[in-house]
Amino acid sequence: MKSNYSPRGPLGCKVAFLSASPQSFIACTGATSCRPRSRTPAHGLLQRPRRTTPLNMRSSTLPISFADRVLPLKNEGAYAMMKAAARLDASATREHERVVHLEIGQPTISPPPHVVRALSEALERGETKYVHPKGTLALRETIARYVERTHSLPAGSVLPENVIVGPGAKPGLVLGCLALLNPGDEVLIPDPGFPTYRAMVELCGAIPVPYPLLPDTNAPDVAFIGKRISNRTKLIVINSPGNPTGGIFGSEDTQSLKRILAGAAGRIWLMTDEIYSRLHYLSSTSNLAAAVPSSVFDDPEVRDRVILVDGLSKTFAMTGFRVGYAVVPSSLAERMEVLAVHSFGCVAPFVQHAAVTALTDSVENDAYLAQAMALYRTNRDVVLAMAADIPGCRLWRPDGAFYAWLDVSAHRQSAQLIVCELLERARVAVLPGTDFGAGGEGFLRVSYAGDTASVREGMRRIQRFFAEKAG
Ligand SMILES: Cc1ncc(COP(=O)(O)O)c(C=O)c1O
Repeated sequence: MKSNYSPRGPLGCKVAFLSASPQSFIACTGATSCRPRSRTPAHGLLQRPRRTTPLNMRSSTLPISFADRVLPLKNEGAYAMMKAAARLDASATREHERVVHLEIGQPTISPPPHVVRALSEALERGETKYVHPKGTLALRETIARYVERTHSLPAGSVLPENVIVGPGAKPGLVLGCLALLNPGDEVLIPDPGFPTYRAMVELCGAIPVPYPLLPDTNAPDVAFIGKRISNRTKLIVINSPGNPTGGIFGSEDTQSLKRILAGAAGRIWLMTDEIYSRLHYLSSTSNLAAAVPSSVFDDPEVRDRVILVDGLSKTFAMTGFRVGYAVVPSSLAERMEVLAVHSFGCVAPFVQHAAVTALTDSVENDAYLAQAMALYRTNRDVVLAMAADIPGCRLWRPDGAFYAWLDVSAHRQSAQLIVCELLERARVAVLPGTDFGAGGEGFLRVSYAGDTASVREGMRRIQRFFAEKAG
């Protein structure tokens, strides 16, 4: 593949690549080995971007004093990668120069057609005004039934007053933290883990305490969590199936976690991010199988300290609809409602109507999910089979979500540099494991949420790239 860059590769690069600070696009600066030959490298990851400050802002020389709470926050690496890949795509003239996108965790399949229809019908009916900040009663009732159904909880154990609807799952995570955390509180978060966990904790002035995942299963290391509990621990965040690894919580992990929570006598909260809970490859006929510690949620001793977060972005390929929810004790729901009132206000009522359609028990929804899972399973198997032929690569078998977590540590090169080379030379976009925490060094996250042909082509390019490296 023809490249604008030195075939020597970026081994000597000084990178701040995709760390997603404002400088995150300044990668490989000063590195002779990957300095672009042309004056304008196509993807922009390897040079400082031109300032694009609007004209009316340019004359201002006054320094801006940002609030301390936003200074530590970093962007999500996936967005930086999408932008860089889009630049390369824009300059591509031939098909093989186009980037294969395996970076973003976004299904390319369409949302269920009956859900889209429900949305446009609601729009046409004029459901376009403000609604209750916690969500419409119809949607909160539907969510209550859905959570009972998927978690095998007795009817009536989740009430609409326990539910708060937001634009995506993220508000459930962030508002939950804003309502509970004080500066100095400690929060256990997975590392590697979804980048919003660290950001939401830092936003509150609280202290993220990363915990590792277990080798082979990628489930949280609950023994480690137990050892890191201190008298300042306020919250434990779990995510199963997990982003970025696809790892799943085992039932023993659940029991140990339950013991930790019960031992804390109501002092410690559990936030369970269940956005991938319907997307698992376990053979069990249960909706969630062992994917989520439902029994924790079901335990009266700890139930009142559980924040369950979920949404429709992944399960129903509804990323752009922006609808998700949290199920919390009613007193916390009241606090989160106030935060909703003063931030996003409410979620668009026509979107909420569509969400009711998606979360109602129906043949169409089951059929949609079965078809989506068949696609992800096929894609996962393609990735598993093709990764086996990549020199110096181990794949940690994903049991859920639509991510593969490739261990490329044998190449003794930083994940960021590998990703940089993969994009430039092989024209395939994946994310460095370090976008998900320091524990991701030596790993690449491959999203197989797209169509099978793209996944196959992306893996073929990755195979060839590493074969050339090895040979
Ligand atoms: C683990 C995890 N939680 C939450 C979210 C946010 O989902 P939403 O788009 O519904 O806000 C994502 C999105 O990638 C995710 O991976």
